[in-house]
Amino acid sequence: MSEPRIIFIGAGNMARAIIAGLRRRGIAGGDIAVHAPHLERREALAREFGVISRAAEAVPVAADATVVYAAKPKQIGTILPSWRAALEAGPGIFLSLAAGVTSASLKRLLGPKVPVLRCMPNTPAQIGAGMTTLYADASVTAEQRAAAEAILAAVGRCLWLEDEGLMDAATALAGSGPAYVLLFLEALEDAGVFQGLPRATARILAQETVLGAARLAKEAQMAPSNLRHQVTSPAGTTAAALAVWEEGLRALAQRAVQAAVDRGRALAQMTEEHNQ
Ligand SMILES: NC(=O)c1ccc[n+]([C@@H]2O[C@H](COP(=O)([O-])OP(=O)(O)OC[C@H]3O[C@@H](n4cnc5c(N)ncnc54)[C@H](OP(=O)(O)O)[C@@H]3O)[C@@H](O)[C@H]2O)c1
Repeated sequence: MSEPRIIFIGAGNMARAIIAGLRRRGIAGGDIAVHAPHLERREALAREFGVISRAAEAVPVAADATVVYAAKPKQIGTILPSWRAALEAGPGIFLSLAAGVTSASLKRLLGPKVPVLRCMPNTPAQIGAGMTTLYADASVTAEQRAAAEAILAAVGRCLWLEDEGLMDAATALAGSGPAYVLLFLEALEDAGVFQGLPRATARILAQETVLGAARLAKEAQMAPSNLRHQVTSPAGTTAAALAVWEEGLRALAQRAVQAAVDRGRALAQMTEEHNQ
């Protein structure tokens, strides 16, 4: 049997989401291996998706393999050194999902020869509607970028960042973003209930409205403000509500994303110190 070409370190939520996407895309289970310490977790993936389940220990990897780091950022300093020799024998690539762990740190752990790429997916990846940002430095070839993107494209849309420094902002917007939208959904639902709608009705109205507006914004390829003006009659109901939202929504969005960036940088600093 040939060696698996996609090797996951970690069998948690994100590994599961990506494996499900890869299998939906027709990648054979035998092309994917999962390394994790707990037998039950990785065996569950093996049963559900037909992937190869392996103990956490590093093994030699096929020359064209992609090793995907899907364990916790804090553990990267203890896990990666054992994979260094296998990756250095290369020319496989290393794709890290670890939030806040920079390319410089990855190269320090794996050595300068291993092509390293970073990515930040988000939780809608679980249903194939993820938004992933990727970053690789200039030493990574177009083919290596395409190999990494093909994996993440199985769970949604991919965008490349040219500046690694923007990864914190992208993480604060899209990585944490699904939670902001869920909070907004909850608030809209509650406001509908306050006006007398049954909760189940308010929930459906809020969900479909947010989904429909996001699809409209995406498909119309227009700035959201233009679309908003089209549905805002002078002195109408939408104008009355928008005046209230404008009292604080933009400032809150700025502060919320800034808070996520600040916290992300603080956690990255702690991870960096932990992994030294
Ligand atoms: N969840 C998200 O929304 C999200 C979004 C973007 C990026 N990420 C990133 O994705 C990564 C994984 O997150 P997650 O939410 O999937 O975490 P998770 O569910 O906690 O999974 C972590 C996995 O790491 C495994 N692990 C622990 N020690 C290991 C070792 N020595 N060798 C191999 N595997 C080991 C665990 O194994 P056992 O199962 O055997 O305990 C577990 O399967 C993190 O770096 C995170 O920053 C997550």
